Amino acid sequence: MSGISDSFQRPINYLRISVTDRCNLRCIYCSPSGSFHHIPRKEMLTYEEISHIAQTAAELGISKIRLSGGEPLCRADITRLIHILDQIPGLEDISLTTNGILLQQYAAELKQTGLQRVNVSLDTLSRKKYQEITGLDKLDQVIEGINAAGKVGLKPIKINMVVMGGLNDNEVTEFARLTRDEGWNIRFIELMPFGDKHLQFVGLKDILQRLRPLGNLSPCSAPKGNGPAKYYRFDGAKGTLGFITPISEHFCFLCNRLRLTADGKLLPCLMSDNSIDLLPSLRNGVQPKDLKQYINKAIASKPKRHHINKDIHSSKKMSLIGG
Ligand code: 5AD
Ligand code: SF4
Repeated sequence: MSGISDSFQRPINYLRISVTDRCNLRCIYCSPSGSFHHIPRKEMLTYEEISHIAQTAAELGISKIRLSGGEPLCRADITRLIHILDQIPGLEDISLTTNGILLQQYAAELKQTGLQRVNVSLDTLSRKKYQEITGLDKLDQVIEGINAAGKVGLKPIKINMVVMGGLNDNEVTEFARLTRDEGWNIRFIELMPFGDKHLQFVGLKDILQRLRPLGNLSPCSAPKGNGPAKYYRFDGAKGTLGFITPISEHFCFLCNRLRLTADGKLLPCLMSDNSIDLLPSLRNGVQPKDLKQYINKAIASKPKRHHINKDIHSSKKMSLIGG
């Protein structure tokens, strides 16, 4: 299997697939407010179409896949897709990012069908704040989901917390302690300007400083992963603390990914305005060599870096792009 690089010599081996733009939450940082319009179902890729793309991508050197959304567990029969992907030669790592609400229900089946691990979005440990951030009173269900995932061995579990000033930034210490007390892997994420315009950005350098009094934090390696987080560990802690800084310190020079939206658009970059629409070709019986060419074209058009700015609001929707 040959690897593939983009025009800046970055090896591309990771495909993030948004399997649906639908979600059972309404997180305030996810979409422009009130904008939860959905792709018509007939314009969504079928599982066969997704696996056709994944198989071709694997032949080009993609070895890791992450399913996201929207909420991937909201798509009917998602374990069938995982099972199909698990059979594709060359795909070594299949993971999923979820809000955790349906995780307790699906954990065992996900593990059985070949999923290796999950990332769970959880921005607060307060029930009231959870409702404020996501729209629903579901914190207990998420915690049960995380525990269920741990029990069946969907590990390492990573918890994603988007840090927002005046909203949940006062909880970073409590989250950080969980790396020691519960062995959780926590990742703090800088807010990107996709959702509610009034949310406050907090740079993660500040957060790192705020955590120093808790104990000695040493840089460490990632608890398995494909992403750009920088990881640290408190002395003696089982879990790790990750920092993802798309705004204050972009990590585009490390970018190894392509994205596929639920309606079949290949995105060279999170912020790309140019995408390659695979849906018409797939529905017209595209030849494997042509599909390869489209994927190669998306890789070749990856920009050197994104220009996301905390002050410039984007009308893009994370639920469509895939988080
Ligand atoms: N800024 C940063 N992270 C975001 N996510 C969704 N929207 C944003 C945003 N505006 C992250 C969530 C989730 C993942 C799917 O994407 O934390 O973990
Ligand atoms: Fe749903 Fe994730 Fe968007 Fe929250 S961030 S509304 S869980 S897709």
